[in-house]
Parts: sequence; structure tokens; C-alpha cells
Amino acid sequence: MSTDSVLRYEAALKVTGSAIYEGEVSAPGLLHAALVQAPISCGDVSSIDATRAVGLPGFAAMVSHVDAEVLQASPATALIRERTVHFAGQPVALVAAGRLQEAREAAHAIEVSVEARPSVTALSQALDKSFAPAMVGRFPAETHRGDASKALAEADFVVRHRYDTAVNNHHPMEPHAVVCWWEDGKAVVHTSTQAIFGTRAMISHAFRMPVSDIRVIARFLGGGFGCKGQLWWPWMFWAMLASRKTGRPVRLELTRAQLFTLVGRRQETVQDMRLGFSADGRLTGIEHHVLAQTSTHADYSDSTAVYSRFLYACPNVTTTHRLVRTNEPQPVPMRAPGTAPGTFALESAFDEAAERLGIDPVELRVRNFADHDQEAGRPWSSNGLLECYRVGAERFGWSQRPAQGTATDGRWRIGWGMASTLYPAIRQACRVRVKLAADASLRVQCGTQDMGSGTYTALGQMVASALGVSPSQVTVELGDTLLEGPFSGGSQVTASLAPATELAMTRLRETLANMAVTDERSPLAGQRIEELEFQDGMIRSRTGNVGESLTDVLARGAAEGLEAEGESAATQHQSLAASSMGYGAVFVEVGVDAELGEIRVRRVCGAFAAGHILNPLLAKSQYVGGLIGGIGMALHERTATDRVSGHIVGDSFADYLIPVHADMPAFDIAMIEEEDLQLPGGVKGIGMLGTAGIQAAIANAVYHATGKRVRSLPIRIKNIV
Ligand code: MOS
Repeated sequence: MSTDSVLRYEAALKVTGSAIYEGEVSAPGLLHAALVQAPISCGDVSSIDATRAVGLPGFAAMVSHVDAEVLQASPATALIRERTVHFAGQPVALVAAGRLQEAREAAHAIEVSVEARPSVTALSQALDKSFAPAMVGRFPAETHRGDASKALAEADFVVRHRYDTAVNNHHPMEPHAVVCWWEDGKAVVHTSTQAIFGTRAMISHAFRMPVSDIRVIARFLGGGFGCKGQLWWPWMFWAMLASRKTGRPVRLELTRAQLFTLVGRRQETVQDMRLGFSADGRLTGIEHHVLAQTSTHADYSDSTAVYSRFLYACPNVTTTHRLVRTNEPQPVPMRAPGTAPGTFALESAFDEAAERLGIDPVELRVRNFADHDQEAGRPWSSNGLLECYRVGAERFGWSQRPAQGTATDGRWRIGWGMASTLYPAIRQACRVRVKLAADASLRVQCGTQDMGSGTYTALGQMVASALGVSPSQVTVELGDTLLEGPFSGGSQVTASLAPATELAMTRLRETLANMAVTDERSPLAGQRIEELEFQDGMIRSRTGNVGESLTDVLARGAAEGLEAEGESAATQHQSLAASSMGYGAVFVEVGVDAELGEIRVRRVCGAFAAGHILNPLLAKSQYVGGLIGGIGMALHERTATDRVSGHIVGDSFADYLIPVHADMPAFDIAMIEEEDLQLPGGVKGIGMLGTAGIQAAIANAVYHATGKRVRSLPIRIKNIV
């Protein structure tokens, strides 16, 4: 497969405003909706009185749990079918009106009576009620390899610390939105989702409708980061019910403030990390115990400790996960779920071990490299981690690392830190359809969606290069359940598209080649198919100097054009003959103001090995985006709950800090090409890889600058001065 830094397919559409996001879709008679939110964090709704609202201008309808009783019960519909309030700000009704302002005013006029119950608004209030989930994502929650407690008891030395990570919120630029209507009992749902098929399945279950009567469309997304997965967007159902009740299309778009409560969060974690080493720097035991927040209505656990099973060679590993229910919003996956908080603990503790041993942190990691998947006892399909350490260290100039606490630049104390990152290479079942028109233009269709990370571009360029035509000849269609395709998440879309596209294009090439060589009128008549190549809109023979344009082949044999499909199967990172992960090493330089405690990330080098890179330009953009998200988690982002009311404190961008351009350093990204022949398509995901590791690298650099170990994210000024 080719490698080409093709520019973003939809760039011009987006910058000129001609890309229509789903919340912008217009429809005749469109009503606007607003949510009525619970003032309490735990209790029951006893009544909802719309009397005052009904008389207001523009009022069209109110829907609440009463209307939602017709929906089939499931975890997804519980929040909108039941009277129970689980967290402050939980919607209790939706109001639809002619204009948005009218809907908001009518929502304010709805009188809600509630019976409050005592609530749990902090993890620490319910530690005694923690419980173990069976699974964390795709992984078993608790695993034991060897005997970790014995190994730790017998280790030459042990690093043991507690690491905390805060609640974060996703905050895509585009908030969740839905514009929906009904056509003869069939549902049309335009919604900003990472999962059009998951959304369709959810609607099908809730409304007891066949999926064939539901069309979900998400052509462009202004970001997702995990909060636009299908499950926690049930307010969409109320919009659909309001549309059915009024016979008019309904539009609901969340406000920025609502994104703090209604669409998920990165769960808070408290991690007990224990590493046992021999005197010569070999890991002898790992225990990683995670306690994390979930809601009172559903279980969710990141795979936080899971990566401690894979990253290093170690015969004795125990990992556990426990959850604590609080009356706070539901956690969901968020930007490197599991790996980001988990590697923060593991890679911070590793840095402490390196210091205790007097061994360079890179050297200690190299010494503990896992040359196979020790959890499954099988080889890696490829593993470029050692190369990441080598290339990253060289580009960063790691060998020149000053002694701890010695480097300064004016008022800044300078520190260097590094950490590893990893993410499993997984894929979903995928189907890609290609249509080649008589003029050799191509149309490729897949029912996946582009979160903004480059799915249109990657698919378009794979198709173009496989047929030897320019990417400008390819039209890409995504984001409609009339097609078939994978969920956008878990860094798996491009990896899922690659083998399906390869197959579709191989089939198309075979058809074209056969048409040419078996037709006496073609200059290629009688050529051997294996000798043909597709280039510059032509089929050419590699040996002889003969060829024919695609348009001529088509004009003779397929004036209507040709179609081909390719499909590929889902794989987990351990479902093939070998285990597959992407890896990276992140090197960071920070400056810490000695008096004010301000931290600046001055320089980042990330070296990543994740299979074949299709488009280095887009891949770099994903890595940089991931690293910026990681910097946010390390230094800025924290969603705080008022422990008395259960409300979010400061639910706006004025209070929720995120990195801005002025905070961002120079990023040096090294992409180490892996030729992974065991992985169909050869592509591993990269979206999450850059988002993990950097948190620990920053904390380690802060220690290197200041001598202060900060084991709590985000790192705040009070932690270091
Ligand atoms: Mo991702 S956190 O799987 O969108």
C-alpha cells in the first residue's frame, strides 16, 4: 500500500463552511428543543408541571419519562424512562418550540417537584461499597500471572505509590446534536455520533423497530474523543418522541455547559502501583490496583491497569479494578481510555525505580523489554518499541540529559522526562464498496464516520493509489447507515478500512485486467495479468511497452462502469496468530518557574511504531493532537464536583482549562515504519497512541527539574511550590 501525504479530503468544505454538520441540517417546520435539568443529585421526580410553559410563545410540546414509557427498557433508556435522578443536571424533560430561545424560556417555565435523597458526591464517601466489575472494556478485570505478592515480598527493592487522576471531559468543538423526523413511521436521524450503527441499534431496540426503518446519518463530526459513542446520548430519544408527538422535525443541540454532565467523562482513578525489582534492574513483580468512579445507574471501567500486563517483561503480575458508585455523571471512554491514566502510574513509578537504581530511564526500559506477549504467551506480530526508544532518544538528544536539578534557563528550572506508550491494534468487521464510472472516476462508500481525524482522506487515497489514479478523481461517501462500516473509536477505523479496501480494489483490478487481456481489440490482449500494473489512469504491462487507459477498457467492456466490494473481519489484539500493539516513546522538556511554579512544556519528541503509515501528514496531525490532549490531562484539565450539591463547579471553558496554542511547544514526531505481515492490511491504529505516556513523561520531567514527585493529575502549582 502506498504512503502519501495527501491533503485532507474535506478541508475546503470545512473551511468554506460548505460541510454541513448534522446539527445544521434544516427541515421544513423544524422545532428546536431544550432540556429541563434536575436540581438535585439523587432522588425522584414527583411531578412535572408544564402549565406555565404551555402558554408561552412558540411552545409545541414537552416530553418526559411519562412519554418515554413506551420505549423498551434498557440501560440506555433507563435515564429517560424512569423518575429516578442519578446526578445533578440530569434531564427530566425536553421542551420543543418554534425557536431556540422560546424552547429555552419554556424549559425554564416547567415546574419540577423532586424528592431528594442523600447522595454520594465523592469517591471517598463510598470506598466501603466498592465492587469489582467482571470486565474492563474487552479485558477481564482481574488477572494474575505468577505470584506478584511473593515476588514483591522477595524483591531487592519495591517502588510503591498511590497515583490519582482527575475527572476530565471530552469537549469536542461541535456539541452533541440531533435533527430527527419521521416519514411514514420510519425514522430519519441526523446526529453527531461516532457510531451510526450503534445508534441505529439503540433506536431499534428502544422503539421496537426493525433497523431497516431507521436511517442514521453523520457525515461530518466536529470531534468526538469517545463521548460520541452510541450509548450515553439517550436525550436523542426524547427528541424523536417530541417529533412523533408534534409531527414536525425536532432539533436538539447540547450547550457547552451540558457537555460537562450529559455525555460522559473520563473517570476519576486512584491507583495503587507496586513495582518490585532485582538489584540489577529486572522487574520481578507488578501489582496495579485501580479504584475508579462510576455512576449509580451503569457500570463503566477503563482498562486502566490492563497495560501493566503487557508493557514490560515480568513473570509476576497482578492487576485489579474496582468501581465506586457516586451520584455523578456516567463515565465513558475518553482519549486513550485506560492507557492514559494507567501509564501515568506505571511510567511514573518506573522513573522512580530508575532513579533508585541509578540507571538511565531509557536503559531500564530497554532492559525490561517484553519480547513477546507474556499475558498470552505468544509472539508479537511486530513490536517497534526498542526502535522508538533509540530514535526518540537520539532525536531528543537524551544522551545530553543534565543531572537532576541542575539545568536552568533564566528563571526556569529545566527538566527532561520520558515514558513509553502503547495501544492494542484492533479492528472491526468492515465492508467497502467501490464504483468505477466510465470516465474512470471513482466513488467509494463505507458506513463509517469521520470524526475529523482523516477517514475521508485515508479511504480516498487508498482507493486512488490502488487503481493508479489521482485522489481528486475519488468521491468518498461516509456516515450513512444505508452503507455498512465500523464504529469510529478505539483507534481502529483506518486499520479496519485497509484490508477491506485492499480486497475491493484487488477485485476491481482483476476485473479490469481480465477485460483487457481477453479482448483482442485491447493493446494488452494476451498479456499475463501478473505482469500488469495500474498507473496514471492506465493499465500497463511491466515488461513490454504496451498499455491502455482505464477509460478505453471501460468504454469497450463496461460502459455502465464497474462495482466491487471488499470485506474484512474483526480482530482483537490477541485474536490472530500473534498479538498486536502499537508502541511509542515520548520525551519531554519542561520549564518550571522556580518561584511561581508555572510549568511549561518546552519541547516534545514522540517516536511511534504502529504498522504501516498511510499518510504521514495526517498521522503526524493525529499524534500531535493526541499529545496535546495528553498535555491537557497532565497540566490543565479537571472537572470538579461541588460535594454538597453534586453540581459541576465552573462548567464553562473559562474554568475548565485546556491547552491553547500559546501553551504548545514544538513537536518532533518520528514515525517508525513497521512491516507487519501478520496483520491484515498492515495498519495499526494511531489515534490513542500519542495521547498516553506523555502524562508520565511530563511528571518525570517536573521531578527532574524540581525534585518534586507529583503523583496526582493534573499537576498543579500547589504540588510543586
Ligand atoms: Mo475513543 S476514546 O475510542 O473515541
